[in-house]
This record gives sequence, structure tokens and C-alpha cells, in this order.
Amino acid sequence: MTPSRRTLISRAITTLALSALSALPALAQGSPKLKVGLMLPYTGTYAALGNAIENGFRLHITEQGGKLAGREIEFVKVDDESDPSKATDNVNKLIKRDNVDVLIGSVHSGVAMAMAKVAKDTGTMLIVPNAGADAVTGPMCASNIFRSSFSNWQPGYAMGEVVAKKGHKKVVTITWKYAAGDESIRGFKESFEKGGGKVVKELSVPFPNVEFQALLTEIAAAKPDAVYTFFAGGGAVKFVKDYAAAGLKKTVPLYGAGFLTDGTLDAQGADAADLLTTLHYADSLGTPRDNAFRLAYAKAYKLQPDVYAVQGYDAAQMLAVGLTAVKGDISKKAEFSAALEKARIDSPRGPFTLSKSHNPVQDIYLRQVGGKKNKLVSIASKALADPGRGCKL
Ligand code: PHB
Repeated sequence: MTPSRRTLISRAITTLALSALSALPALAQGSPKLKVGLMLPYTGTYAALGNAIENGFRLHITEQGGKLAGREIEFVKVDDESDPSKATDNVNKLIKRDNVDVLIGSVHSGVAMAMAKVAKDTGTMLIVPNAGADAVTGPMCASNIFRSSFSNWQPGYAMGEVVAKKGHKKVVTITWKYAAGDESIRGFKESFEKGGGKVVKELSVPFPNVEFQALLTEIAAAKPDAVYTFFAGGGAVKFVKDYAAAGLKKTVPLYGAGFLTDGTLDAQGADAADLLTTLHYADSLGTPRDNAFRLAYAKAYKLQPDVYAVQGYDAAQMLAVGLTAVKGDISKKAEFSAALEKARIDSPRGPFTLSKSHNPVQDIYLRQVGGKKNKLVSIASKALADPGRGCKL
């Protein structure tokens, strides 16, 4: 029996429709989930920081109804342990085994530099939600690498100006011996010495050691006008407590990059009272935007937010800006990046734009510990841009 003319036509239409459908990108066939690779520390001295970043990131997605640019989000998580020696393997697994569409990470500068190298080589989109490694938005910068946080240089540079203006002349620095500590000290020294001061001694312990006793004895003997420090997470808690226990808090003023007292105040208690630090966030900004964020975060997690939560939230906001511009198709990398380069991110910290090398241009606040809060004192440095030294974009 030969098929009728009508059957033939209807078969032809079906074939046409099927081939048209298979030619469409997967997206149009019901938007597959967007795979986000979260590479963060969930153990070790920076564990609380990793958790706060993830909380902040998820909060923004929840506020958007669980989708960005129409795509549901699927998370693949790796505990990077803040261990740079495992970082390249970890990031390669996320890209090659798990096929993530975008990488979010990490906290530790050494880990982030390994991620940036692989992201640059493979073209995978990377948003760094903490690590300040100057190189990531310096010599290692790339069109597909963005940061929602800060460069190590930024809070250090702002504090150098503050300490010089206070009239301190002789400063000892103390930190962990790795990129974040070294670069924070370098930023501080640059502006402090420009302002007429002198860094007379640079002390350090290997990361993540917390054996500070011998170095605190050295500080007491050197009798500087002040101390500048970079520590964070569990190490910051121990350092602030040891500094007070050694009797130094009463005799040598302690200044730090704001990580020293962010997310740590419950554990530091009275030993952190009145400390002055510089950072791109404070707990009492009092803007409608920050108030709304703080309320939503506290409701969702029964926790107060900190700078890490803000950076995670803003990493998700940045991802949303890029994805919206490409209607969810993250393979359109040039358009994704162009949208972010033009964006003004409505952050709880205050709005920020991105520098040419993709680092936030932002106000750095001077804060003082009062109770369980890093209270706003003043803007130490308005719209401070990392110089992006060595970045060719
Ligand atoms: C870093 O390694 O870049 C780093 C880690 C923790 C912080 C800030 C910077 O709180």
C-alpha cells in the first residue's frame, strides 16, 4: 500500500521538525543545569571562610528563585584544604571529570594562583571570591578571570596611609610567609614609607603555623611604635589572643588588614576590643542595601554575615550579570566578559566596578572593633584601584 499524500507530507514535517530541534543548542531544549565548581577550604584554618563564601553565594541564587538567566544551578564541591600542592589536580578534576561550566574559588592565594593558571590555559570562566593574590589581577590576568573580593595590596596600602597619618614612625610587621602575607605587608610598606614611616623588621611564620611566642618576644624587644599584621581565620583568632596575653596590646598598638577581626570576634572576645583595621566591608554600614543583605543572611543561616559572605554573594551577582548578558549560554565568553567589564555591582559593601584587570575598584573602610562588630570609623581610601601591575589585557 502506498502512503497517502497527506501521510507523506506529515512525515516530512516530522522529520524537518526533529532535525531542527537537534540543531538547536541544548539550552533551548529545556535549559540543562549550569554546573558551578565550588573550590573552597572546608577544613583547616580557613574552613569558616569557605563556608561563609558558599552561604553568601547560595543566598543570591535563592533570592533569584534558584535560577540564573533561566538556568538552574548544580554545585560540585571540592575541599581544597588551602593546600596549593593539591590545587592543580583539584581544579583539573572539576574541569575534566565534572565538566563544570564555571569555577568559583578560592580563599588561599597559592590555591587561587594554581586555579588561575588552569583557568587561563583552558579558558574556563573563573570568579575568585576571596584570595587576594596580586598576580591573579596582575601578570596572570586573563579575559576569563574575575575577582569579587580584593587584591592583597588594597587593605595593606590603605592601612599604611592611616598609620603614617597617626604619626607612627617605626613599625614591625608580622604575618604568614606566603603570597597573601607578603603582599599585604608590601602594600602597607609602600604607602607607610611614602608617608614618612619606616618598617624596621618583617617577621613571619610559615602558613598555617600559629607558634607566635618567639616572635612576640622579638616585638617586645624591638619596641616599635606600632605593629601591622595580616592573619585570617583560625590563625587570626590565635594571634589576637596571644598578642594580648603577651601584654603587648597595652604597649604597642596593633593594626591589621581587616581579616584579622572579620568572622573572628566571637572567638577573640575582649582581646580584640578597639582594634583598628582596614577592609572593603564593615558591620555597620547602615545602607538599605547592606541592611537587607544582613537581614536575609541572618534569617537564612542563623549567623551574622562577614566579609567572606559578602564576597560569595557578589561572586554570584557577577555570575548573574555575565549569564544574563549571554542568555544563559556561558560558551559566549567574550560577551560574558564584556558585560562584567561594564557592570556596576550592587554589593552590600557599596557599589563597585571592575578595574581593567578585573579587580574591584572599591572604598576601603577604617573599622574599629566594638562589641561583636567591626564598626565603621571612616573611609580610609575612596574608590581604591589595585594598580594591576604586569597585567596585559
Ligand atoms: C589569601 O590567601 O589571599 C587570603 C586568605 C584569607 C584572607 C585573605 C586573603 O582572609
